Amino acid sequence: MCVCVCVCVCECVFVLFFPDHQWVVSLPGPSRQKPSSVTLLSLSVCAPLQEDHEGCCGTLVRFDSLPPDGGRDHPEAKEAHQETGLGQEATQFLGRGGCRPSLGRAGCRPPLGGAGGRPPLGRPGGRPPSAPNPRSLPDFPPVILGPPSFFADCPRECYCDPSYPSALNCENRNIRRVPVIPSRVHYLYLQNNYISELTAEPFANATELRWVNLANNRIKRIDKEVFGKVPSLLYLYLQKNQLREVPAQLPAGLEQLRLSKNRISKIPANAFKKLEHLALLDLHHNELSDRDLGKNTFKDLTRLIQLNLARNILKKMPAGVPASVIQLFLDKNSIEDIPKQSLVHLAFVRLNYNQLSDKGIPRAVFNLTTLLDLQLSHNQLSSVPLFNAHLEHLHLDHNSIESINGTQICPHSLQDDGLMPKLRYLRLDGNHLSPPLPMDVTMCFRHLHSVVI
Ligand SMILES: *[C@@H]1O[C@H](CO)[C@@H](O)[C@H](O)[C@H]1NC(C)=O
Ligand SMILES: *[C@@H]1O[C@H](CO)[C@@H](O)[C@H](O)[C@H]1NC(C)=O
Ligand SMILES: *[C@@H]1O[C@H](CO)[C@@H](O)[C@H](O)[C@H]1NC(C)=O
Repeated sequence: MCVCVCVCVCECVFVLFFPDHQWVVSLPGPSRQKPSSVTLLSLSVCAPLQEDHEGCCGTLVRFDSLPPDGGRDHPEAKEAHQETGLGQEATQFLGRGGCRPSLGRAGCRPPLGGAGGRPPLGRPGGRPPSAPNPRSLPDFPPVILGPPSFFADCPRECYCDPSYPSALNCENRNIRRVPVIPSRVHYLYLQNNYISELTAEPFANATELRWVNLANNRIKRIDKEVFGKVPSLLYLYLQKNQLREVPAQLPAGLEQLRLSKNRISKIPANAFKKLEHLALLDLHHNELSDRDLGKNTFKDLTRLIQLNLARNILKKMPAGVPASVIQLFLDKNSIEDIPKQSLVHLAFVRLNYNQLSDKGIPRAVFNLTTLLDLQLSHNQLSSVPLFNAHLEHLHLDHNSIESINGTQICPHSLQDDGLMPKLRYLRLDGNHLSPPLPMDVTMCFRHLHSVVI
């Protein structure tokens, strides 16, 4: 693989290559640091070369205006830093630029330790050491009890930090049953345990719960009444469990729902009804097939921004994706074609590892001014599809492309009256192409400063 990086002085974007990790990071340069009306593509953290990359790739969405702390110390920023292993630079950028919690970071790698989106908690010395991943231990080791607590209502198997009365930390404790949640709790951490069932009783007084992390347990069953007890719930993390269907009667205020890495093959008819605040729905790595997704499945999700259906068993593009969605992830399915109009409104589209060939791609299907990032790696394309002048990132590696003609693919935009094509990052490796890139390509794409061929 040859990596060509040309940095053009007039384009204020840096691309850093990390050969060891194969991480690629694009950071907007000085002229873009000011918050602007642009809400997209402020920073993307991707591992495009990694086998399981659809789970570890993400985009942090820029705030229109900065959060009160300027984004510094934001748990999502820290987590992104931890997961990518990138140095201060990226983290500092996150701090400066600000990032919106979690949007675009669907299904990142299982968070290290107590991550998974927690508020910035202090970690005083009184905390018990975290246990290793319970999956690697024999079944049901004894529950790990914490030290006596400052709070009389603190369950013995949890840690209650006196400085953060709204948080209840019960992760990594070999817990099999949800303890009784005190009514003061907003943030509940129960990840990495052995819980197999959620019943309503422990939640009876937990009316203030905002954020529940139950990732990496063994949950098979959820009582319908549970969600009736937690009307304030905003974030529900249930990834890495054993659910076979999307839970019913979810709280109407929910903003994020993570259900990746379960065994879901069923979405009950009204599962998403009333969820009009849901912005992120992560269903990646489940067992959903075309017939599980009806035209109306996502209809009520009128504020959905990110939909992740990667690593399921879809053969068709999902129908009825709400018009609010800008990020659609469908990697590792068996999709053969893209119907006309099915990508309208989208900005980030990932279709890596599918069965796409030239035949399945209508001529103008990617000719959308909204589209910024298009990933079609590991398919069976034999030519470069046409795209719009607004596209910034294009992944076409590991297809069967034999030639690239810059004159033919150069996007001309009459509407924007001579807009220079914005493409700046192009992956072509793993095709039947060899460097150098033809002159007509570099002539057309003046902003292109990194090409992998
Ligand atoms: C809920 O709170 C009430 C009033 O504070 C208390 O009497 C009751 O025992 C609590 N229930 C649970 C399950 O903790
Ligand atoms: C792509 O869309 C633009 C309008 O945004 C239009 O002018 C152009 O002809 C289209 N190109 C193709 C190949 O359809
Ligand atoms: C590229 O396409 C243009 C227009 O179709 C054609 O005139 C040109 O010869 C092609 N270039 C190559 C190198 O095939």
